[in-house]
Amino acid sequence: MNEPIRTVAVLGTGIIGAPVAKNLRAYGAVRVWNRTRAAADEVGAAGGIVVADTVAEAVAGADVIVTVLADGPAVREVMAAAAPAFAPGVVWIQLSTVGPADTAEFADFARATGLTFYDAPVQGTKQPAENGTLVVLAAGPQDGRDVAEAVFDAIGSRTVWVAERPGVATRLKLALNSLVFALTHGIAESLSLATAFGVDPALVVDVVAGGPLDSGFLRAKAGAMLAGEYPAAFSVANSVKDAELIVAAAEQAGVAVDVTAAGLGRFRRAAAAGYGDADMAASHLAR
Ligand SMILES: NC(=O)c1ccc[n+]([C@@H]2O[C@H](COP(=O)([O-])OP(=O)(O)OC[C@H]3O[C@@H](n4cnc5c(N)ncnc54)[C@H](OP(=O)(O)O)[C@@H]3O)[C@@H](O)[C@H]2O)c1
Repeated sequence: MNEPIRTVAVLGTGIIGAPVAKNLRAYGAVRVWNRTRAAADEVGAAGGIVVADTVAEAVAGADVIVTVLADGPAVREVMAAAAPAFAPGVVWIQLSTVGPADTAEFADFARATGLTFYDAPVQGTKQPAENGTLVVLAAGPQDGRDVAEAVFDAIGSRTVWVAERPGVATRLKLALNSLVFALTHGIAESLSLATAFGVDPALVVDVVAGGPLDSGFLRAKAGAMLAGEYPAAFSVANSVKDAELIVAAAEQAGVAVDVTAAGLGRFRRAAAAGYGDADMAASHLAR
């Protein structure tokens, strides 16, 4: 007997959604929808991917829906538009970074509309997404995990099951991003200080090379700052959004996040200076 054709609808073809959609061809038939059609067409041009005109058309008959959208409000809006076309028993994999309250709301929405919901933010940026080496942080029910895992295997090199309860993976993602942001701002300030002190800022990288402070992340972000080139792997606009989520969630949890709060100020200033679409390394340009 032939296997049924597995069909996944990817909603959102931005920096992460586009490569995720391409890699999901290893899972089954892929349909994409994006608010701005041109970005979806670029993904469709890779071949073997159907570009849907509407979100309802993308999800009709799909057995898996993957959301890779900017933020909670975008996910809410797009899934509400998709709802009339849901097939019964669909698995919804929510990759976008949203807040704990959004995730709780989406779990309720899934229950009410008959979807099996996985809270599944990803660790890794543009290049790991292209290489299929994202780390998926997953929370969701045992039933349906075979489907979810087949999706995760197509887009990532590792899945960390954090809990059954949705929201726990989202919280881990926010904790991880607080580390990413602290590193980014630390590198930016160190290079700025060196420059202001009349020292070649490249010496900061040179001195730590090969030691415990050295890392691929430091090399990538310092490299962008030293070159003054900021093609987005993770945008300043999304960094503002995530830093705001961290500050709000930390307040609820009663944790002081002084570094994230100060870093949010840097990201906001970089965005106000016109660098919202630039990489988060543009923290270096915050004045
Ligand atoms: N980039 C990373 O390194 C990274 C890593 C881990 C997690 N994430 C998370 O993954 C998600 C996607 O990130 P990304 O870097 O791919 O972002 P991105 O390139 O900015 O893409 C954002 C996507 O959301 C869509 N969108 C925004 N507002 C919308 C709305 N109101 N209605 C419908 N669609 C809307 C955009 O559509 P348009 O094309 O029409 O604007 C685009 O498809 C975010 O939650 C981000 O925090 C990103």
